[in-house]
Amino acid sequence: MQIDIISAVPELLDSPLNHSIVNRAKDKNLVEINIINLHDYGLNKYKQIDDTQYGGGAGMVLMVEPLYNCINDLQKNTVYDEIIYLTPDGNTYNQKMANALSLKGNLLLICGHYKGIDERIREHFVTMEISIGDYVLSGGELAAAILTDSIVRLIPGVLNDIESALSDSFQDDLLSPPVYTRPADFKGWKVPDVLLSGHDKNIDDWRLEQSLKRTKERRPDLL
Ligand code: ADE
Repeated sequence: MQIDIISAVPELLDSPLNHSIVNRAKDKNLVEINIINLHDYGLNKYKQIDDTQYGGGAGMVLMVEPLYNCINDLQKNTVYDEIIYLTPDGNTYNQKMANALSLKGNLLLICGHYKGIDERIREHFVTMEISIGDYVLSGGELAAAILTDSIVRLIPGVLNDIESALSDSFQDDLLSPPVYTRPADFKGWKVPDVLLSGHDKNIDDWRLEQSLKRTKERRPDLL
């Protein structure tokens, strides 16, 4: 899989995409991630990428031309399955979308900044618009990092134990059950007996029951 990310502040993506599971996936050649600096496509001697909006109003808008040139350049080498714009007015992201995106070959993510991007890019290039929640970030970079992390960990071979992705919260519309590790008794705080019983069927039943209880209490909308 290839994930290309267009950003006006690429430094924001450095740390989240260079550690832990995403890094392991890159090392195993299961994903290639390219960060493209929009400033490389800036106009005039100032390398301008944004301007004030027509009609007046506060906030700068990422200009159509640098984004157009950047996307065109990338498309010379790559055919994208989806061109995704990260924006608070997009469809709210969830695990089902992560699952579907993890099956794609090539993705292009566009990070907005300031007031957003010129609408003509959305009309002519973008195939999906995704929000990571009902709040406004300073730019799309953190949202792109979240998308990338949630997709990459689902690519077969990335996690050592595929079970651990399949049993994540939301994977089957249920929240995960509680988990414990050693010691079995910490200052009188005890791990449930069933988890120490070695009885697989009872453990599975207990976990399902706990998942249902937790989902009912915290996220009844999922049931
Ligand atoms: N850019 C700014 N806010 C965002 C959000 N909530 N989701 C995705 N991209 C964004």
